[in-house]
Formats: sequence, structure tokens, C-alpha cells
Amino acid sequence: AGTGKFFVGGNWKCNGTKDSISKLVSDLNSAKLEADVDVVVAPPFVYIDQVKNSITDRIEISAQNSWVGKGGAFTGEISVEQLKDHGVKWVILGHSERRHIIGEKDEFIGKKAGYALSEGLGVIACIGELLEEREAGKTFDVCFQQLKAFADAVPSWDNVVIAYEPVWAIGTGKVATPQQAQEVHVAVRDWLKNNVSAEVASKIRIIYGGSVNGGNCAELAKQEDIDGFLVGGASLKGPEFATIVNSAT
Ligand code: G3P
Repeated sequence: AGTGKFFVGGNWKCNGTKDSISKLVSDLNSAKLEADVDVVVAPPFVYIDQVKNSITDRIEISAQNSWVGKGGAFTGEISVEQLKDHGVKWVILGHSERRHIIGEKDEFIGKKAGYALSEGLGVIACIGELLEEREAGKTFDVCFQQLKAFADAVPSWDNVVIAYEPVWAIGTGKVATPQQAQEVHVAVRDWLKNNVSAEVASKIRIIYGGSVNGGNCAELAKQEDIDGFLVGGASLKGPEFATIVNSAT
């Protein structure tokens, strides 16, 4: 962990029912979470209200997506304004599942980030390479291209957390080694230094996602440039998620 406040997000993805989420929230409410960590959970849209009304104020709520501009005639979309109306503080944008399964492109994702930030939401900006891109030696190129699309669109980096999530590590049980993650995190910080500013590069939190669990989080958290985690599967279990939240101390 580096200098910024440790940040741990639970991305629940398209999982849960009213009952399972009520149990998860009650486990989170009774968990002991270290004070010096930002803790955020991202329920599916339809459960945001339930979670917001039952979870401790200690934990902030994120959405898993948001519309690219003001709401209106956009069937099936949810606007930033509607998220704010529900007390949502963050939105995850550029997640690899939206890039590679839904087909969202860099420029569109950048615009979403720009709009969300301009309306006062924090953005968890995801980047990461596919296995074939890593094997072809293109990891940095891919991550920098995705970063550039964010950089071209965001008004400021103050409310941005970058999540490095190598696609081959997501939901596969194949976690990046601490060295593999650290190497990319340093490269991302360097890119920001050279293309945005030294100040942003030193302050921004770069978190790692991809098969993080209660057993591997402590080693990863020791890395200088790993400032937290974005957790999928293991965030659906309250006690294990708490272990990950507390892994930097
Ligand atoms: O956004 C978090 C994520 O993609 C990682 O998922 O299940 O590998 O922890 P998982």
C-alpha cells in the first residue's frame, strides 16, 4: 500500500436476491472494519435502495454503470442524477465485462466518466488487458490506451480511483502475482506523471482487481503501489470481504 487512503470496493456484479443481500448487509454491518480505509459496495441497480436503507454509513454505495449524459429517452439506462437521488457516491466505469461482453468502447467510457465526475460522482475507472494481449507483450499499450481515453474526457482526477483488473485474472481464481500487479501499477503512475501531472500521479489511488480473496490480499496489499482492491466473488461473503478491507493493517 502506498500513501493514499486504502480503498476497497466490492463489485457484486449481477448477483443477489433481496434475501441474500439482506444477509450480506447484516454481515457487513456487524463486521469490524479498520477506520483508515474507504469501503464501497456496488449492488445491482435494483437493490441500491434496499442496501442504502439498511447498510451502515461507514460503507458508501457505488453503481456498476451510469448513463453517459442527462437522463431522458434512453430505455433501460440509469442516469447519474438518479444515482445521486439514491445517495450513491461512486460509479464503476470501464469494467472489462462491459468492455468485452457488452462492447463498450474507450471513448464512450471516457465520456461517461467525464459526465459522472462533472455531476459530482466519484469514478472507479477500470483498465486491464486480455490474456492474449499480455502474451503478445501489449499489456502496457492496452492499459495506456484505456487510460488516455479517461484522460481525454475527465475534468479532474480528484474523484477518480483507477482499478487495474487484468481480464485473465477476473473470476478465474488466477490472481496476478504481487509483482505482476505492482509492475503495472507503477507503469500507470508513470504514465499519469508524464501525461497528466506529477501531483495526480502521486496522489491517485490505483487498486487491483482479479481473484482477490481473503488468502491472497495481504501479500498484494504490501506492494508499494497497490492502494486497495476491487473485489468480485469474495465481496459476496461479508467476513471474507472484511478480511480484505483490513488487509493493509
Ligand atoms: O470488479 C471486480 C472484478 O472484476 C474481480 O472479480 O470475482 O475475480 O474478484 P473477481
